[in-house]
Amino acid sequence: MEANEIQALRAATSGTAERIHFNNAGSSLPPDVVLETVIGYLKEEALLGGYEIEAAYKSPLENVYASIGRLINASVEEVAIVENASMAWHLAFNAIDFQRDDEVITSEMEYVTNLIGFLNLQNHQGIAVKVIPNDARGNFSLSALEEAITPRTRLIAITQIPSTAGNVLPVAAIGAIARRHGILYLVDACQSAGQIPLDVKEMGCDMLSVTGRKYLRAPRGTGFLYVRKEVQDKLKLLFMDGHSTKAVTEEGFTLRDDARRFELYEKNRALVLGLGKAIDYALAIGVDRIWQRIQYLAGLMREKLAALPGITVHDSGDQQCGIVTFSVAGVESTDVKARLAAKKINVSVGKASSTLVYMNKHHLTSIVRASVHYYNTEEEIDELCANIMAILS
Ligand SMILES: Cc1ncc(COP(=O)(O)O)c(C=O)c1O
Repeated sequence: MEANEIQALRAATSGTAERIHFNNAGSSLPPDVVLETVIGYLKEEALLGGYEIEAAYKSPLENVYASIGRLINASVEEVAIVENASMAWHLAFNAIDFQRDDEVITSEMEYVTNLIGFLNLQNHQGIAVKVIPNDARGNFSLSALEEAITPRTRLIAITQIPSTAGNVLPVAAIGAIARRHGILYLVDACQSAGQIPLDVKEMGCDMLSVTGRKYLRAPRGTGFLYVRKEVQDKLKLLFMDGHSTKAVTEEGFTLRDDARRFELYEKNRALVLGLGKAIDYALAIGVDRIWQRIQYLAGLMREKLAALPGITVHDSGDQQCGIVTFSVAGVESTDVKARLAAKKINVSVGKASSTLVYMNKHHLTSIVRASVHYYNTEEEIDELCANIMAILS
């Protein structure tokens, strides 16, 4: 992406003028057009009535499903819009009809929500959880996965980009193994949507969970779940309302034929439109171009941080992403964050609990997480480094 394009994209994002935002893995700055879409709808809703405005926006609201479909190469029948990635993940995971002693295989990079989901069913339903450790280079081990699979393996559940580490898991290669063994495959794409091109067919996944507010630059409180058409009828729903069904009698009900059976009727329509607008915005730029730019900026940041005395960059693995994690010798991560915030630089602190197995293995209690998006600049990276030098001196 050329400098003038970046400047235009920054000009269309008011937040970039206010601060240096390196907390994109927490929540990105939305484009102004996303904000205007949400506020515009809310105003019309207040003036015209919630149901009346929904009817007027029937087609733009429907188009959000098509936008999600284009983003991940799925059909509109395979998409459910929900409030966040944790909800999407739990709706999928807990819908699997696990039997006692069924096995779930995951990686050491799995997100805390998902780990809690595994432990919950381990306690209540007697499933077994196997965690594949990374190899010495910090890569997910495909051979260890192959070896861990048994006739009892029911699910492979993987987080594509961990919350507190900069690596990317080989989701398509894992999917190929899952397909070959006929095992269900659930991908947490919370940090990867909007950062990396996603194609559910290429990944070979059955279910995929996403949040809106991170690399997609959508409003908070948005997310979606993808469920492959062929597996929808094999899953048992956790929650239902009239919207989940196509017919109800006093004796029973028939579920809808698409993934919207996983949704409940009531949701914030303004935010849904904002999600659609943010996805269209990313698609117009091109997620492949976004991914190139993010890798370039994150590589630069890692290189510059690693050159500073007293800084340890923790990211490992052959494929790295926009999340840069590091420690500053002798300074707590929370202090680093606070001192940078005082200079109008946003970073976040990654706690051990977020990616528990990996953090424990590396004896990390917390890390500083500086996550870049395409709208960040080389000058902002220099500013971050200069301020970290000041903290060190
Ligand atoms: C890898 C990963 N998965 C899932 C989540 C949960 O997303 P949400 O807060 O939208 O439920 C996060 C949030 O930070 C995450 O980093």
